[in-house]
Amino acid sequence: MAETVTPSGTSGSLLASLDPLLRNWLPRQRWFAGKGRPVTGFTPVSVTQLLPADGRLGLYHLLLRVHQPDVPGAPPHPGDCYQLLIGVREALPPRLAPALIGHVQEGPLAGRTVYEALHDPRPAEVLLEALRSQARIGGLRFERDPRQEIRPGLVARLMTAEQSNSSVVYGDTFILKLLRRVVPGVNPDLEIPLALAREGCPRVPPPTGWLHADTAGEPYVLAVLQPFVSGASDGWELALSELAKGGDFTAEARALGRATAEVHTGLARALPTVTLGRARAALLVDGMTERLAAAVQAVPALRPYARGLRSAYTALADLADEGRTWTAQRVHGDLHLGQCLRSPSGDWSLIDFEGEPARPLAERRQPQPPVRDIAGMLRSFDYAAHSAVPPAPDWADICRAAYCSGYAAAAGRDPRADPVLLRAYETDKAVYEVVYEARNRPDWLPVPLSAIRRLAASDPT
Ligand SMILES: Nc1ncnc2c1ncn2[C@@H]1O[C@H](COP(=O)(O)OP(=O)(O)OP(=O)(O)O)[C@@H](O)[C@H]1O
Ligand SMILES: [Mg+2]
Repeated sequence: MAETVTPSGTSGSLLASLDPLLRNWLPRQRWFAGKGRPVTGFTPVSVTQLLPADGRLGLYHLLLRVHQPDVPGAPPHPGDCYQLLIGVREALPPRLAPALIGHVQEGPLAGRTVYEALHDPRPAEVLLEALRSQARIGGLRFERDPRQEIRPGLVARLMTAEQSNSSVVYGDTFILKLLRRVVPGVNPDLEIPLALAREGCPRVPPPTGWLHADTAGEPYVLAVLQPFVSGASDGWELALSELAKGGDFTAEARALGRATAEVHTGLARALPTVTLGRARAALLVDGMTERLAAAVQAVPALRPYARGLRSAYTALADLADEGRTWTAQRVHGDLHLGQCLRSPSGDWSLIDFEGEPARPLAERRQPQPPVRDIAGMLRSFDYAAHSAVPPAPDWADICRAAYCSGYAAAAGRDPRADPVLLRAYETDKAVYEVVYEARNRPDWLPVPLSAIRRLAASDPT
């Protein structure tokens, strides 16, 4: 197991002393993915001291593999790797009380208080300064785009929104997204914005800096710094507020369609594309069909629609058999209204290109038909309309049409011109939503089920 230890020899005892505190603290974090199973131990992947612990403020950067019992029926798993920033102080000022991890009883930090350092501006500013100066500390490589300036002295604040990673805003100028559950390899959350920045695509904030780790030859992307879109609202908030006022969202939906098309066009230029012929389309259809079968097993409410939904996939397979081909390219992978930010001047940006974090990295980086993102957005308009009181299905129809028109105007092809492909992807997404809602938010189940009824009945051929 790789380990970058600074200073030498202390990581074992450091970890031993933090172990009981982290076992208790980690499962309570929003971003901890292994909830419901006890933490049975840790293996350090890397331990890096960023500020010496004998001063007033110590700071450690940790990559920790977290051991938990295997999920019954699932293959054995080595444990997820998490990124932590641990602050060390004599005592915590009251403003940092929510960040407390605990009081260390033994080992090199005995008698000190450890806490989640991102809550504290000073350690968060250490990260920005390291990016600014392109520091190399242990196995950590802080890098930046030399063409973008990072002014010193920007004050840090941790974002409090619920999210699966942690983001720190620096003086309303930059936002640093610190990835929590990390895997080795190229991370699309950095790869895609960098590729779009090279293309000059203005729809994605261009990465200003990034943090890598190299541990035993395994490269990790750990954080990405981007310009902060100050005063932005996300598309979900905006859509809900328009719905509540009975307002019109058509122009925004059209602009979102254009923004999606600009991102797709940039990605098709910047990164490899492939042609989906019969064999690849068959694999795609198999995956969709398998997900449907599993969903029908898990959620009995889907059973009456199974045959109709399957027809969405067989129609796609039939087209492929007739010789139709499609172009696949890199896409966003998890696009919905909440991933779109509108600046006060009305410009839209797309964010969060990590894809579905539960899926393996290699799968998330596969080229896919761009309609996958379009289907995600169309489902998102539907979600917004159905969460309004009373639900507003006509609003969804109007927005969905405007979104497709905006996309067509910028991309030169209308997603509605390929109704079989669009229906297959929308169906796959709605099936996923049904399973998600049945497991997590049963009150929301009627939202995807209403789409399921429509998709099962509609045969565009
Ligand atoms: N460049 C930016 N400018 C302004 N705000 C931003 C920017 N990037 C992200 N945000 C804000 O930070 C939030 C979280 O960002 P992001 O979605 O990338 O994190 P995440 O941890 O992947 O979230 P999730 O768990 O929702 O997937 C966004 O919803 C948005 O409000
Ligand atoms: Mg995310």
